[in-house]
Amino acid sequence: MNPKQLIKLLSLSTVILFAACAQTGSEIETRIDALLAQMTLEEKIGQMNQLSYDVSAGADLAQQIRIGRVGSLLNIVDPEALNELQRVAVEESRLGIPLVVGRDVIHGFRTIFPIPIGQAATFNPELIEQGAAIAAREARSAGVHWTFAPMLDISRDQRWGRLAEGFGEDPVLGAAMGSAMVRGYQGSSLADPGSIAACVKHFVAYGAAEGGRDYNSTNVPPHLMRNVYLVPFKAAIDAGAATLMTSFNENDGIPGTGNKALVRDMLRDEWGWDGMVVSDWASVTEMIAHGFAADPKEAAMKAANAGVDMEMVSGSYLEFLPELIKEGKISQEYIDNSVRNILRLKFRLGLFDNPYTDTSTPSPLYAPEHLEAARETATQSAVLLKNNGVLPLEGIRSLAVVGPMADAPHDQLGTWIFDGKKDRTITPLAALRDAYNGQINIIHESGVEYSRDRSTAGIASAVAAARRADVVVAFVGEESILSGEAHSLANPELQGAQKELIAQLAKTSKPLVIVVMAGRPLTVGDELAAADAMLYSFHPGTMGGPALVDLLFGAVSPSGRLPMTFAKEVGQIPIYYNHNNTGRPFQGTETMIDDIPREAGQTSLGNTSYYLDAGVESLFPFGYGLTYTTFEYSNLALSSEKIAMNGSLEVTATLTNTGKRQATEVVQLYIRDVAGSLTRPVKELKDFKRVTLAAGASTEVNFTLTTDQLAFYGLDMVRHAEPGEFRLWVGPDSAKGLETGFTLE
Ligand code: NOJ
Repeated sequence: MNPKQLIKLLSLSTVILFAACAQTGSEIETRIDALLAQMTLEEKIGQMNQLSYDVSAGADLAQQIRIGRVGSLLNIVDPEALNELQRVAVEESRLGIPLVVGRDVIHGFRTIFPIPIGQAATFNPELIEQGAAIAAREARSAGVHWTFAPMLDISRDQRWGRLAEGFGEDPVLGAAMGSAMVRGYQGSSLADPGSIAACVKHFVAYGAAEGGRDYNSTNVPPHLMRNVYLVPFKAAIDAGAATLMTSFNENDGIPGTGNKALVRDMLRDEWGWDGMVVSDWASVTEMIAHGFAADPKEAAMKAANAGVDMEMVSGSYLEFLPELIKEGKISQEYIDNSVRNILRLKFRLGLFDNPYTDTSTPSPLYAPEHLEAARETATQSAVLLKNNGVLPLEGIRSLAVVGPMADAPHDQLGTWIFDGKKDRTITPLAALRDAYNGQINIIHESGVEYSRDRSTAGIASAVAAARRADVVVAFVGEESILSGEAHSLANPELQGAQKELIAQLAKTSKPLVIVVMAGRPLTVGDELAAADAMLYSFHPGTMGGPALVDLLFGAVSPSGRLPMTFAKEVGQIPIYYNHNNTGRPFQGTETMIDDIPREAGQTSLGNTSYYLDAGVESLFPFGYGLTYTTFEYSNLALSSEKIAMNGSLEVTATLTNTGKRQATEVVQLYIRDVAGSLTRPVKELKDFKRVTLAAGASTEVNFTLTTDQLAFYGLDMVRHAEPGEFRLWVGPDSAKGLETGFTLE
């Protein structure tokens, strides 16, 4: 079943099963009004309180729910226990308001898909939508109504551990992937038993943490905020995202959870959004450590006034909102609006009519079609970075399989897999044995036991295995715990003795294929030089093994593309393709450190912006990826050299598969606005298309570029396109492509 068919099937079941329950927006608003009119202030504030089941479970929890002091739980995935607590809420609390249950379902519930940065590498929003729909179906079967995903934080820093959870450095790719995930989770109706509410996070600029250190301050100024960091949020909100989470970081002195200008004024008043805002875990009271609030009471006041509807776990709303209202420091209207937003979510999820989790239907967990979809996503997410012809593996009789990630069922799942099971993971070693047992002699020696393992004791055995084999495949990378929340690295490179392992394997002169399974782009320049081929697989999830084996042996040609620039050196970070230009851009012919004469005189004449020791080039640019064939671009043409304001342009190019295998190319369209009221990036991705071509085949690829896609928030802080000259490229990545230009009049 292809992604479209599956999505259709899932949403068809929505229509059949829940047509009876569907409520219009105005019916919901009427029901909210009726309920609100009956609620006491304490009951309203209770709705604004979220507790974590793993911390708060116990006899008192049921009582708290009974007396209306809990509106939501997170981290409860036992449907029986949940049904009992839900029964207390619905049958024993005064107004019978159901609980809404949240959980971090970030890249799958039981069936684990590649981490989001890997999903972004597919450049395939339809596939991502399908994965989210599957995650929703599995999660809702366990009682989860609401996921804290997608994470839409743009990140330009390879040190930041949480980039694993996002879609990389580009706002257009992030917007496409983020809205696809929202559509997948939410389906056509939140009341569908296969749908869950999405939560776009972390609002906002959390990925711009200084130095790539998690939770750190950010300094994103207003134009950059609107033109880059907010772009995926706006797109996901337009796609119908039901909830949003405020961030831990403070930006320019204001913590996300206390930012009234962004939450209440922009999100609500300017964007007109009627979803629900939740704080991050204790991010209300963490405003004290930030130095933005003196105590929990002031923190509660600032968060509620900023427009945060529900407080995750820190309890300051419950304790202080009543007196803050009495003191006139928070308006009754603000509280009512927050409660409306919370009740609206519960109504939209159909919880008033259908509060319980049905435990009698067959479990969808690990359904065969879910595993198949996870495998397809893992296949499309891997990026071929180098190949001197050793791949795909053909005609080999023996294979040395080495490295700590060859058989690491827990670690290949990646970060945030609370509900995934390692015993259901298929590792590359298991998949190889399954597919080639009896045909290829598979010699397994890990060499290094786990990614941080500094012991070199096993390397000799791995080298011996390499010597006995036709080809060596080294599975290296990062354990899952080296990326994700609170797991940033100052040196994002291969840890432990892995570098030594690769260096020793290279000395055997056996063909060396390196497969990296990691949570982030690592600085892998040395390993790349040592390798005959490198396949980069961001932690690929449950079905990573079979997917990688398919790619290594050429059952499928790689089609992933980098969603983030790869740095050569950590000191180049932040390095990203869509940067603004300097007044003295690098020309590519500059004097490097070893070329400078001794006692050279100080001069800035003719100098440009670069590092003496590293230049400015990345290891690999955004959008990069090879496959088992070659593609050629030709005949780039525009429907006109001029485009009128509010008009559009047809862009066409011919793509030819000039190699010997069928493969998929990700055709990318970039522009540059040459001069604006603000300086504009040297390149900006505007559109992309996956195109599959048989060997020797040719096709015309078409894009429609609208003036809306050229628009940005300029000096006047209004979003519009500015007249003038534009450059345009169609090509295989952000560094190459056919170039032309046009004028916007
Ligand atoms: C903290 C994380 O920042 C957030 O992304 C997550 O959803 C919450 N904890 C809940 O687990």
